[in-house]
This record gives sequence, structure tokens and C-alpha cells, in this order.
Amino acid sequence: MNNIYLPNLVTIEDIYEEAPDVRSFRLVFKDPKLRDTFEFKTGQFGLYSAFGLGESTFCIASSPTRKGYIQCTFRKSGRVTGGLAQLSIGDTMGFRGPYGNHFPVDEWKGKNIVFIAGGIGLPPVRSVIWNVLDRREDFGNITIVYGAKTVADLVYKEELKHWEERGDVNLVQAVDPGGQTPDWKGSVGFVPTVLKEAAPKAENSVAVTCGPPIMIKFVLNTLLELGFEEGSVYTTLENRMKCGVGKCGRCNVGDVYVCKEGPVYTAAEIKRMYNDF
Ligand SMILES: Cc1cc2nc3c(=O)[nH]c(=O)nc-3n(C[C@H](O)[C@H](O)[C@H](O)COP(=O)(O)OP(=O)(O)OC[C@H]3O[C@@H](n4cnc5c(N)ncnc54)[C@H](O)[C@@H]3O)c2cc1C
Ligand code: FES
Repeated sequence: MNNIYLPNLVTIEDIYEEAPDVRSFRLVFKDPKLRDTFEFKTGQFGLYSAFGLGESTFCIASSPTRKGYIQCTFRKSGRVTGGLAQLSIGDTMGFRGPYGNHFPVDEWKGKNIVFIAGGIGLPPVRSVIWNVLDRREDFGNITIVYGAKTVADLVYKEELKHWEERGDVNLVQAVDPGGQTPDWKGSVGFVPTVLKEAAPKAENSVAVTCGPPIMIKFVLNTLLELGFEEGSVYTTLENRMKCGVGKCGRCNVGDVYVCKEGPVYTAAEIKRMYNDF
């Protein structure tokens, strides 16, 4: 019988330094068959292992439209991420997945899409952004509102430049008050405030948001004020996980197993799960 906890071996093909203590790995399966056939949907996550140290849960930050590799972006925050941060190009690590549900991108055809992310919340949103941009003709207006504490903390700086230069994306970048550099040309303010100023139209639109819980809470309020419906606003939860496959009970909220039924939820579903959200 297959051991569901046995990771697949992946090689680190490239490493990108994104921000202080935040880096991305471009990963390729060692098994050539798996490299060719591996599929996932945008919003799904994986368990990434540093041998001898354990596993960490990260979203798959690349888009399923880009085949042959997966990308993850992580912040060095503890034991496993600290071990992963010491690996170099060419090293081997483990990956199991994909797990969880996904963003229903196919249901959004013809709609405007607003992405709102804060700090290290951009990686899961990046997967959806590229998925949508790789099928640009299927969607209406695309707005990206992204903020971080300081200019240095913005991740995917090269891609932000690319999205800014594209004529078919409206990118609003922001840093918290005090986080700007003398040459900063973006907005200064917290993400929910900057979103309110950008005021994307709610009609025929969906919104996708990820960031620190406090940001998500205020972003949801702002979106509702702007006229978005709770069923058209999506987010992804980062509850602590261990098995990733509905066995250990580590990730649950009430009787909901976030690793199986989530991590992607609409604002309406989140409000039902957390009475005080
Ligand atoms: C579905 C999902 C997707 C995720 N995607 C990403 C991602 O793309 N990039 C990324 O950097 N992180 C992501 N996370 C969070 C990530 O799993 C943890 O930060 C990481 O596992 C910490 O591992 P560690 O062993 O280094 O830290 P530990 O030694 O276990 O903990 C270090 C510190 O991080 C805190 N921490 C641990 N897990 C979490 C968590 N789930 N949420 C908030 N704080 C936590 C601990 O309380 C502690 O303060 C995701 C989590 C989930 C559940
Ligand atoms: S992480 Fe083990 S049940 Fe969800």
C-alpha cells in the first residue's frame, strides 16, 4: 500500500531572494514521469520537508498553467523553514501534495477580478494572478492591491514591475506609513484604506484576498462597503496543519477540517465558521 506521508523528492532548481528572510524555491520532481504528469489547481497547498527537521505547509505559489515545476515562497520563521532556508540550488527536499480545495477560477469567466494581498499573503494570490493572466481574454478588468510594512518587505519585486508595466492590469502598491523610501512612488497607507481609495467596482466582480488575519478582517469590511457580495469574496486560511489529509485533527475549526474542505473559502463561509469574524 502507498504511504500517504511519504514525500516525493524534488530538486531545488532556482532560489529567489524576495525580501528579508523570505525566499522562493523553484522545484522540479526528480521522477521524470511525475515531472511530466503532476497537476494541481490554484489555491492548493503542499507539505514541504527539510530532511531530519520535519514538514511545513506552504501554498503552491506558481500557476497550474505553468507546467514542469512548482514554486513555493516562505518566510524563515522556525525550525523547518530555518532548515529549508539553508538549502542551496541543486539540493534535494521533500514535497507531498497537492492538497485542499481550490479557487473556482472557471466560474469567474467574464468577471472583473480584484486581488488584495498583504505581505507574505501574496504567494497564494500570485498563483491565481498568473492563472488568470495566462487566460487573460476570459476575464474583465484586473486590479491588484498589494501592500507590505516597508518597501523592502514587498515580495516578487520583479513581477510587480511587470504587472505595473502591463496595460491590462491595474496595480496599486502600498507600504505602511513610515515604511516608504525617498524614491517610493506607490501609495502610503494600510491595505484596507488603500483598497477603499482605489474603489474597484463591485458589479460583476469577484475579490481574492490573503494576508494577516487582521488585514483580512478589515479588507472584508471594506469590500462589503464597496458593494461586494460575501459569496463573491474569497480568501485562504493558514490554520496550522500537520498531516494535510484529514487524519490528525490539527487544522479543524469546529467540525470543519480546513486541510480537506479548505483552505479556500468565501467570506460568507468564513463568517459561518467564525462567529466573531
Ligand atoms: C494552507 C497553508 C498555506 C501556507 N502557505 C504559506 C506560504 O506560502 N508561505 C509561508 O511562509 N507560510 C505559509 N504558511 C504558514 C507556514 O506553514 C508556517 O509559517 C510554517 O509551517 C512555520 O514552520 P516552522 O517549522 O519553520 O515554524 P515553527 O517552528 O513551527 O513556528 C515558528 C513560528 O511560526 C508560527 N506559525 C507556525 N505555523 C503557523 C501558521 N500556520 N500560521 C501562522 N503562524 C504559524 C509559530 O506559532 C511560531 O511562532 C501556510 C500555512 C497553511 C496552513
Ligand atoms: S492537518 Fe491533519 S486533519 Fe487537517
